[in-house]
Amino acid sequence: MINSKIIATGNYTPSFILTNEDISKFVDTNDEWIVSRTGIKERRIATDEDTSDIGTKAALEALKSSGLEAEDIDLIIFASITGEMLTPSMACIVQKNIGAINATAFDINAACSGFIYGLTIAHSLISIKQAKNALVIGAEVLSKIVNWEDRNTCVLFGDGAGAALLSASEEKGIISLYTKSVGEKGDSLECGALSLRNPFAKKEEIQSKDNHVIMDGREVFKFATSAIIEAIEKVISDGNCSLEEVKYIIPHQANYRIIDFASRKLNIPLNKFYINVDKYGNTSAASIPIALHEMNNNAMLQKGDKVIIVGFGGGLTYGAALIEW
Ligand code: UT7
Repeated sequence: MINSKIIATGNYTPSFILTNEDISKFVDTNDEWIVSRTGIKERRIATDEDTSDIGTKAALEALKSSGLEAEDIDLIIFASITGEMLTPSMACIVQKNIGAINATAFDINAACSGFIYGLTIAHSLISIKQAKNALVIGAEVLSKIVNWEDRNTCVLFGDGAGAALLSASEEKGIISLYTKSVGEKGDSLECGALSLRNPFAKKEEIQSKDNHVIMDGREVFKFATSAIIEAIEKVISDGNCSLEEVKYIIPHQANYRIIDFASRKLNIPLNKFYINVDKYGNTSAASIPIALHEMNNNAMLQKGDKVIIVGFGGGLTYGAALIEW
């Protein structure tokens, strides 16, 4: 069995900061409510860059610190729900932007679990020798699909991108992976796209979906708290590891209260969880790779450290990975 290891990370977040105070000027909300219910203080908003642009910047940073050349990349997986094009894919645009001429490139849609799903596919392709050096990118410009008049959702999301370079390795890296989907609960977190549109379409049959994020927050909260526990326990047991051996858990950054719940339920000190939701809000597929890069950049991750990444979100989807750094 060929192992795969994360050899480099990168991230990029737009410079424009939107604070809770700023949002309270156009919807009926306030800093106290947002901080106490979510932990979010501010988020980044893209003003002159789209999803492929910020994904490219994160990818370039990972590539630069890896010491590899763009030609060495043979797989690019781009996880997002906010790509600016249906075709070419975001992954193919990144391929062009960075000059990764030898890569196979494609997008995946698993919402906030996208980075974990992408890592799973990359690891699997590496293990069957279909790839050696894979760029897995999570990038979102959620500000495009947020309803800025809906206080229930507009305070939650932000824009950003993160990337990791996964390479075939003799050393241990990805120890165990777990992904699962719950399609029957998909309507608790929705955003419509293109509805049926052709000269033969029966107008009376067409129900176009709102192309903004609509969420049943309480339902998703319930799902998230059970999914996070299940996924962590699964990768721990599949990896023959104990929670005590794990140095950090890097959860999807949706809500501070979800992370706090997991910490209490699993009896793991909160300081083992990496939290940056205060600075970026929920950046969906980008949140885990943004956090991973921050930790890597701050030398929080040393060779041999065991960490868990865990995500949950639209689909509904969830998953986790136990990783030896
Ligand atoms: O990445 C995908 C995963 N997504 C998630 O994990 C999100 C999971 N859900 C959540 O994080 C929480 O459910 C929310 C943060 C979305 C909402 O928190 P909550 O504690 O579940 O609040 P709620 O929806 O039950 O609303 C409580 C009250 C309501 O007022 P009433 O009906 O009790 O009078 C809301 O209208 O808070 C009100 N409210 C607000 N008030 C001020 C909702 N949004 C706001 C707001 N400012 N922005």
